[in-house]
Amino acid sequence: MPKLQLTLAIIKPHAVKNPVALSYIRNVIKNNFVVLKTKRMILDAEAAGSFYEEHVEKFFYNRLVTFMASGSIDLHIMGHTHAVEVWRKLLGPTKVYKAQFQEPYCLRGMFGLSDTRNVAHGSDSLASAEREIKFFFPEFSLYNWYTNDEIRYR
Ligand code: TYD
Ligand code: MG
Repeated sequence: MPKLQLTLAIIKPHAVKNPVALSYIRNVIKNNFVVLKTKRMILDAEAAGSFYEEHVEKFFYNRLVTFMASGSIDLHIMGHTHAVEVWRKLLGPTKVYKAQFQEPYCLRGMFGLSDTRNVAHGSDSLASAEREIKFFFPEFSLYNWYTNDEIRYR
């Protein structure tokens, strides 16, 4: 059996506040992934800043951090044999103008409002997924999911 990969999805504040977007996104998730953990929370600016620390030098960093701390976010740990790639594909391009013109039916094309308010986050590699899952779910045992077949396929 192929190994299950995990990825982290973060539904961003504007999408959590929009019932049409949120129910559509939840259906996409439910129809494509095994959802292992879900949590709703509000980030403070410090946590948002440290989650996005790789972007600290970018022109959009302050705007991104302020936005991510502006309301509730929904977190989902999701499994699929190609979880990272499949979720990024469903999201579509980072920049909403590209999403809307190149792949209008991706989530960012449908519900994105700007480059910052682009609906949701997806881990960009297995290493990022591991870091990000640990960041939000320190109690979650990745070790069991990667090594124990009985648990992994339960
Ligand atoms: P990035 O990691 O490049 O995109 P992705 O979310 O597709 O992995 O950027 C992280 C977030 O930073 C992105 O989702 C939204 C924000 N951002 C902007 O606000 N403006 C920008 O020009 C870019 C590239 C990103
Ligand atoms: Mg990224």
